[in-house]
Amino acid sequence: MTAQSPAQHAPGADAATTPWWRDAVVYQVYPRSFADADGDGMGDLPGITAHLPHLRDLGVDALWLSPFFTSPQRDGGYDVADYCDVDPRFGSLADADELIASAHAMGLKVIVDIVPNHSSSEHELFQQALAAGPGSPERDMYVFADGRGEHGELPPNNWTSIFHGEAWTRITEADGTPGQWYLHIFDTSQPDWNWQNPRVHALFRDVLRFWLDRGADGFRVDVAHGMVKPEGLPDAAVNAEGLLDIPEGEVPIYFDNDGVLEIYREWRPILDSYEGERMMVLEAWIPEHRLPLYIGPEEAHQSFNFGFLQATWGVETMRAAIEKPLALADAVGAPTTWVLSNHDVIRHATRYGFPPGYRFGEGLGRAETPDAALGLARARAATLLMLSLPGAAYLYQGEELGLPEVAEIPDALREDPAHLRAGVPGRDGCRVPLPWRADAPAYGFSPTGESWLPQPEEFGALAADAQEGVPGSTLEMYRAAIALRREHGLGRPDAPVEFLEDLPEGLLGLVRGEVVVLVNTSEQELPLPAGPDGLDLADAEVLVGSAEPVPGRLPADAAVWLRRR
Ligand code: GLC
Repeated sequence: MTAQSPAQHAPGADAATTPWWRDAVVYQVYPRSFADADGDGMGDLPGITAHLPHLRDLGVDALWLSPFFTSPQRDGGYDVADYCDVDPRFGSLADADELIASAHAMGLKVIVDIVPNHSSSEHELFQQALAAGPGSPERDMYVFADGRGEHGELPPNNWTSIFHGEAWTRITEADGTPGQWYLHIFDTSQPDWNWQNPRVHALFRDVLRFWLDRGADGFRVDVAHGMVKPEGLPDAAVNAEGLLDIPEGEVPIYFDNDGVLEIYREWRPILDSYEGERMMVLEAWIPEHRLPLYIGPEEAHQSFNFGFLQATWGVETMRAAIEKPLALADAVGAPTTWVLSNHDVIRHATRYGFPPGYRFGEGLGRAETPDAALGLARARAATLLMLSLPGAAYLYQGEELGLPEVAEIPDALREDPAHLRAGVPGRDGCRVPLPWRADAPAYGFSPTGESWLPQPEEFGALAADAQEGVPGSTLEMYRAAIALRREHGLGRPDAPVEFLEDLPEGLLGLVRGEVVVLVNTSEQELPLPAGPDGLDLADAEVLVGSAEPVPGRLPADAAVWLRRR
């Protein structure tokens, strides 16, 4: 690991010199499902621009846009056919410019999703690779290999796809004969780039510059641990079968190879050469001890910490999910990040509606019945806990409305390639278009009432306009908490997290400056305990709570922020 620069090690830094990404609240927009301006039932960039005031009023610092580039949409846009253009379903480059300019005018930063592990099979360079023969420079842009077996009829190795099934597909050569195989860690429509080839490096340097020139403040790097494959493409001793079926503590052979780190060392100077604090956040599912290799002044700025998202409800589990990344943050010299939901996982308002330890599949099946009220109560409490912590917090669109995962999508309408390949419910349930207005067609998502996935009736009561100005609504709780987080500098890493010890069973407590955070994970209402230094917390000012306040007490499955007097 390289030495830490003083600029990246924060303690004592003041707000003026602290790079924005260190303590930002970032809001993930999934463009297909955010807001549809042209009425085709698919969200678009003008729809996002029109709803930027929602993000401004929520108080977030930045938005991260999931891919909106030219794409056949076989994996919701994570199958990119042209990295430097906008898919006509989402608008045009002019619409992207307008979105970035409007966001900047409101003081919001914009993070663009970059997908460097694979392209779409419709990418021009993949089409050229298919047309050119084996051994050609065109083919060398992707991972092609001869098959095993007498006639090359067996895949080059035993790797399986994260979306189930084999990770290789055999092509038919231009002369009509069965030919080589190409690697796709994800869907067949997502061929992996060959990062051993310097031309692939050059291509992505240009893509970064293209979006930096257009004003992007940073990148979320998709499958950030995936690009470089082990030399010789050996068989895997441990194989992945689906997103979740990776044995604990194991990393599939095609992930987390050291060559990936070189890519970040190549990209960092490009970002640093631009004005402002341009950043990269990695989607890297790697073991914790590997994180310090990825993050640093010469590598990436930050990485998603998925441990917090995976922690089950309870004092020990949640406390461990906070302490571990905080300890690692010191080791990497940059604050950690916090995430509870994104476009790949079951929404947290639904996850918490199952007992701790419940074994989730890929997506929510129709036969699974969470306790919705309990799930929402705990989700709101977990959100308050998350927003009190130092570092960057990443929100996923709709969580500020308390949206649940949607189970009742007809199979014929599901689009997740994992569903199509393996029949699992998949990730469509967290991607249902947002409800903006309770009384409008498609709940205000689209002017025509079209919606690429059907919205359930319960979305009506959760619509943004039904919650706006309503005390205690999830939307107002998020707004209040984000404003208080900024006012009290809770995201800043210089005030330590001090846990309160010897609390009644089921109570998690921590102190951040003058704010005391309490989470009641038990099933009973509990009296407020003594605070730090024996302070009587019953006398403290309630800044924000996830449940209806009860004087001197904390309801079950609830959290509260108190100000010490
Ligand atoms: C990432 C994305 C996910 C996508 C996959 C393949 O995990 O978050 O949505 O399917 O990469 O690009």
